[in-house]
Amino acid sequence: MERESVEPDKIDGALEMKALRRVIATYLNYASSAEDDVRRWERSYSRLPSRQKELLSHLPKKYAEVRRCISRNFHLISTMLRYFEPPFEMSDDEQQFEHVSDAGNEDVTTAGCKNHKKDHENANGWKDCRSETSVSNKRLAVENEGTKSAVEVQGSYEMDDFHFGSREMPNSTGGFHFEDNTDQHLHVRPSDVDKVRCVLRNIVRDWTKEGAGERDKCYSPLLQELQSWFPNIDPEARPSCLVPGAGLGRLALEISRLGFMCQGNEFSYYVLICSSFILNQTVEPDEFEMHPWIHSNCNKISDKDQLQSVRFPDVHPGSAGITEGFSMCAGDFLEVYGHESQTGAWDAVVTCFFIDTAHNVVDYIEVIHKVLKPGGVWINLGPLLYHFADAHEFSSHDEISIELSLEDVKKVAFSYGFELKKESTVQNTYTSCPTSMSQHLYYSSFWTMIKR
Ligand SMILES: C[S@@+](CC[C@H](N)C(=O)[O-])C[C@H]1O[C@@H](n2cnc3c(N)ncnc32)[C@H](O)[C@@H]1O
Repeated sequence: MERESVEPDKIDGALEMKALRRVIATYLNYASSAEDDVRRWERSYSRLPSRQKELLSHLPKKYAEVRRCISRNFHLISTMLRYFEPPFEMSDDEQQFEHVSDAGNEDVTTAGCKNHKKDHENANGWKDCRSETSVSNKRLAVENEGTKSAVEVQGSYEMDDFHFGSREMPNSTGGFHFEDNTDQHLHVRPSDVDKVRCVLRNIVRDWTKEGAGERDKCYSPLLQELQSWFPNIDPEARPSCLVPGAGLGRLALEISRLGFMCQGNEFSYYVLICSSFILNQTVEPDEFEMHPWIHSNCNKISDKDQLQSVRFPDVHPGSAGITEGFSMCAGDFLEVYGHESQTGAWDAVVTCFFIDTAHNVVDYIEVIHKVLKPGGVWINLGPLLYHFADAHEFSSHDEISIELSLEDVKKVAFSYGFELKKESTVQNTYTSCPTSMSQHLYYSSFWTMIKR
């Protein structure tokens, strides 16, 4: 049959492109899906009896404000997409492989990162880790016309009211040309909508002053522990540290600031588009502004809290004192670091809210053990909210999900040759809104193991 004659590499490439197109389509759909929500709120308001409408006469103004915030967020998203350079030529080639199953990309979740999960849409990743996103503060050339045409993709959302300082946009040879891909927002799955909103919340966690409290509870214990194992770093022989599932890159950047040769690894295009933008395109601290909490009316003490904007990044990555060699590696952790070239390559591995993203946590432990040098340190912090535990509710594919207790996770680690040096429980949150009436608290496991 014809499909059997298609080369595996081509199929992988086509699936990869399909996954990326889906992510871009979802980003482009941000404004219209948010607008749907506002219209729904307005419809409910319009059904109130006139006395109640009068009582709540401020609400139409609030909805207008929300629209302004959506517009600002969409401008940010459009800017990020413009700077994003896909790791391959974006063409329609993948259509010839429409029949090829993309089981790995099947959506299995609905709620975004409400519970720090659901980020595995890009199961194919950039397999060969070909994209090394190193930090720089370069600026690109202006193209305001291009910005305008991007707005028209979404129809009613105009963005030319918003400017990030004197930011210049990539010219027509750089970045992703989404004005040529206007069809992409037609195929957005409702279950993907929250993934973009989730990235906005992740920006707060990693790159805002408002997220400092959360970072202090999650990243500070890891950084202090890492420092205690490598107290006096010799600049001529810097230790190496790997951060799998690095998210938007703040933890990896902080480790680099301590003097480590640090590499973050991440496989979600949703996340990579944003982290690459923040790390590479920021010119000054607090350069960008967005409204992360506008999408829900629930658990808000005041409308002001809901409409509140945040500025980011709170530090300029390019002048944050990072160590040379800091990089972000795009690709699936198991595929990239399972490669034999990675055996015994790292002095330390730091995982934060990561190990429960596995289909099979035993595979993660095996690869973490393998990539460490003898005597190398693995520091972990996070809960065990297995991401694929409820996959059967959303996916027609029979996804493997190995869900072990903490005791069993440790037992497996010991069987691979890890020795437990320290263990405690740390209370923390994940992408929580500091002003919300609802705070989800994790009792995260925090441990240090060394490879014997
Ligand atoms: C819950 S988030 C935690 C992010 C970050 N460590 C933090 O604490 O904010 C888990 C991250 O791991 C990434 N991830 C999940 N599975 C992965 C894999 N197999 N390879 C690389 N990254 C992965 C997800 O895309 C997501 O960004």
